[in-house]
Formats: sequence, structure tokens, C-alpha cells
Amino acid sequence: MNSRQILAGIDRTELENLRERYPYRPNARKINAYEDAAYWIGVNVKRAQDLWLDRCPPLDILDLGCGAGYFLYLCRLFGHEGLGFDTDEEPFFRGTTEYFNVRRVIGRIEPQTPLPDLGKKFDLVTGHRVCFHRVTRVKNGEWLEWTPADWKFFINDIRTRFLKPDGRLLLEFNPRPDGSSFFTSELRGFFESQGARIFRWKALLATNPGQRPRFKQIGK
Ligand SMILES: C[S@@+](CC[C@H](N)C(=O)[O-])C[C@H]1O[C@@H](n2cnc3c(N)ncnc32)[C@H](O)[C@@H]1O
Repeated sequence: MNSRQILAGIDRTELENLRERYPYRPNARKINAYEDAAYWIGVNVKRAQDLWLDRCPPLDILDLGCGAGYFLYLCRLFGHEGLGFDTDEEPFFRGTTEYFNVRRVIGRIEPQTPLPDLGKKFDLVTGHRVCFHRVTRVKNGEWLEWTPADWKFFINDIRTRFLKPDGRLLLEFNPRPDGSSFFTSELRGFFESQGARIFRWKALLATNPGQRPRFKQIGK
């Protein structure tokens, strides 16, 4: 199934109607034009292909900060079972996840705080263009963000409570406001000390800290 076939199954007028019903909040960055299905399906097909989700057996997937729901919508088309987790601050996302029939649990990821119990474990936990590690904005558009200790708590919580024994955690990060990588040398060293495989702007971690996971994995 390619992007064109996937797009043919989406009623783009319905997404544009949702955007009219839930307009941008003042100051919202227009770069996140989530009604642009052609763009976001392209981005998410690539994400799915990077993990071979278009060719592996059905997985249970949890998407943290699932946003508009494009990734989980695609995962379902590829035969996987998905659950989203997000705040309910963006009414447009409420509309699009309903439109895509993407199930999500409402909650907020907080530093040094376990996630609520979701009643099951997953083969894959994802977070794309992660924002939940940003605590507050400081000067120059920079963010005060989680420390390695906060990340350690979060990764341990995901590994012990949300991942099946051969599971993987995928975190994808935006560049910093100055265009540099999220992975400063300190953060790169920290994620690698946790067993992460880092590729470009993504970190992939296995359930077992001693195991280096693969992006392209055919089995569960
Ligand atoms: C930049 S958007 C990315 C959306 C989607 N993952 C994507 O890549 O298109 C960040 C998402 O994280 C969610 N988010 C931000 N802070 C969060 C937190 N503390 N807990 C849970 N979700 C959060 C936002 O509501 C939003 O859906």
C-alpha cells in the first residue's frame, strides 16, 4: 500500500472542515498544518517503513503524544493494533482522532511520575516529535527540559511496565531552535548508556537494557 492509495481512503474535505470548526489557537505555529493529509501521510509512511511496520507481523503499539493520529491510523492499515496517549488540549486532535477512529487515553506525561496503568503491554512504544520533555520555555526560545535523571525514570517506567520482553521504545526528536540536534554530547552519551541505538534524530531502546535493538526487525 503506498501513500497515494492511503490518501484515497481519507476524506480530506472532512479534515479541512474539522480545521474550520477548530481553528488555530492564536500564536499556534502554522508549520503544524495537520489538516494537510498528503504531507502527514508521507511523513508517517516513512516512519512506519523505517521500522518495517509495513512488512512485520501484527504488533501492539502505544504512541505517546499521538497528536492528530496519522501514525496510528497508518499502523492499523498495516495490520497493527494501536493506542494513543495524549493531553486533550488541542480540540482539532480530538476531532481528527475521532475521524481516524484512533483510540487514545487522555493524560499527561510528567517528570519522575509513572504513567497511568494502561492495562496491557506493547511490542512497540513510540513518541514522534517528542514534546513532553519540555518543562517550560526560557529565553531565546530555548526550553528548560528533562534532565538525564528524568529520562532515566521515564525509560525505566516504559521498560518495566509497558514493554513486552522483546519490545522496543522509539523516540523521535525535533531539532533544537538553533537547528542543532536534540542529542547534545551529554544526551547522546546518556541515551547510549541506556542501550539506545541512535540514528539521525531517533533513539531506539529495547526492553532489555543490555540489548541493542534494530530498526528493521521482522519478528515481534
Ligand atoms: C509536536 S506534537 C507531535 C504529534 C505527533 N506525534 C506527530 O509527530 O505528528 C506533540 C504532541 O505531544 C503531546 N504532548 C505534549 N506534551 C505532552 C505531555 N506532557 N504528555 C502527553 N502528551 C504531550 C501534544 O499534545 C502533541 O500531540
